[in-house]
Formats: sequence, structure tokens, C-alpha cells
Amino acid sequence: MQNNFILSPSLLSCDFANLEQELKGLEEADIKWVHWDVMDGHFVPNITLGPPIIKKCRPKTSLFFDVHLMIESPEIYLKDFKEAGADLLCVHAEACIHLDSVVTKISELGIKPAVALNPHTPVEIIEYILPKLYMVLIMSVNPGFGGQKFIPYSIQKIKKLRKMIDQQGLDTLIQVDGGVTLENVKSIVEAGANVVVSGSAFFKHPPYKKRHRKFIEAISKK
Ligand code: DX5
Ligand code: ZN
Repeated sequence: MQNNFILSPSLLSCDFANLEQELKGLEEADIKWVHWDVMDGHFVPNITLGPPIIKKCRPKTSLFFDVHLMIESPEIYLKDFKEAGADLLCVHAEACIHLDSVVTKISELGIKPAVALNPHTPVEIIEYILPKLYMVLIMSVNPGFGGQKFIPYSIQKIKKLRKMIDQQGLDTLIQVDGGVTLENVKSIVEAGANVVVSGSAFFKHPPYKKRHRKFIEAISKK
């Protein structure tokens, strides 16, 4: 099981004054993905970072840039994020009136397309566009801040989505973001998630290599 498991640490909880060091630390910890939380102060009540910061960091690392856009009208900025070096762009279903068209545009830019669903948004909303998606992100907290508590009904949503993906014979990844801990990560992976985001439960517990190992151990435990 752990062979397919991807941990994508959320930089929201890192030391932003030492971003380059933090990225190096992740590589040294055998981490492959890094999660960028982009917030605009409108879609969510918080502001973080945008394309210029991602672009500056791109030459510093070969980590896979998993970019979570918590912004309104994301279609306006797709090209900017492509030029900044995003490998994957995840837009919120709730922020896109024409979701199919936004996903198609992301693919046409040569980036992996993903859709995020807020806690209250049913998974059925993406049923017909599922074959176009590289990944679906199940938000297990209301987006906007790190360090919140995992919403228990998210497990039901992950299971339902896993069934939908399997029934369609797809290999779409399921990502889970928000309130992930060493205590609940096993149930998240068992429900069908492949990629797990962790902010506070990862960055607040250096050394990162040991913490990464702890996550792998947690999902392997009997
Ligand atoms: C929340 C962000 C998350 C957040 C996760 O809006 O999308 O990526 O950083 O942080 P933790 O793991 O602390 O809940
Ligand atoms: Zn996120």
C-alpha cells in the first residue's frame, strides 16, 4: 500500500523566510510532491502567495509542484501558473461556472488538471468530467487556514469517489487536504486516497525525513 502513497506537504505551515531551505529539506526527506496553497482573500478569507513566488522557487527544486488554487475566476490565471512552473493545477468546483472548460484549458496548457471539492460539495458534481481529471481533491476542512480539525464525513466522500473512479475504470488520483494527522492517515488511505496533504502535522515536527517515515509507518500499521 505504501508504494502508491504520496505525501504532499503544504507549505502553508513552512518557514516562508527560508523557502529554499524548506524545499531542499523536503527533497532530502525523500518527498516527491509539494503543495502550494494559493489564496486570494475572496474565495477564502485569507491571502497567501501567487505565481511570482512559485516562479522564483521553480529552479531551486525538482519537486512536483502541486498547486491548489483557492481563488475566484481561476481561468484568468492559468497561464501565469503554467509560466511559474506548476506541474498540477487544482481549481475549486465552487469557483468555476464552466468547470469542464477550465479543466480542458489546464490540459491544453500541458499541466495536470485537478478539481477540489469543498466539504459540502457532493462528489457527483464531477461524475461526467472524471475521465478528464488527473486528480480530485477532497477538502476535509473548510479551506482557508492550516491547523483545523478533520471533518469525519470526509471518509464517506473518499469512499464514494473511490467507487466512482473504479466503476469508470479510471486511475484518477484522490487527494485529501486538511486536518490530516498520524492518527487518521491510515483511515484516509484505507478509504481510497492516494495523495495526502499535510501542513501542521508535518512542518511542526522536524526532522522531515523522520516525519515522512512516521507517516508511512502510520499507514502500514496493523
Ligand atoms: C487549507 C489548505 C491546506 C492546509 C492544510 O485551506 O488547503 O492545504 O495547509 O493544513 P493542515 O494539514 O494543517 O490542516
Ligand atoms: Zn491545500
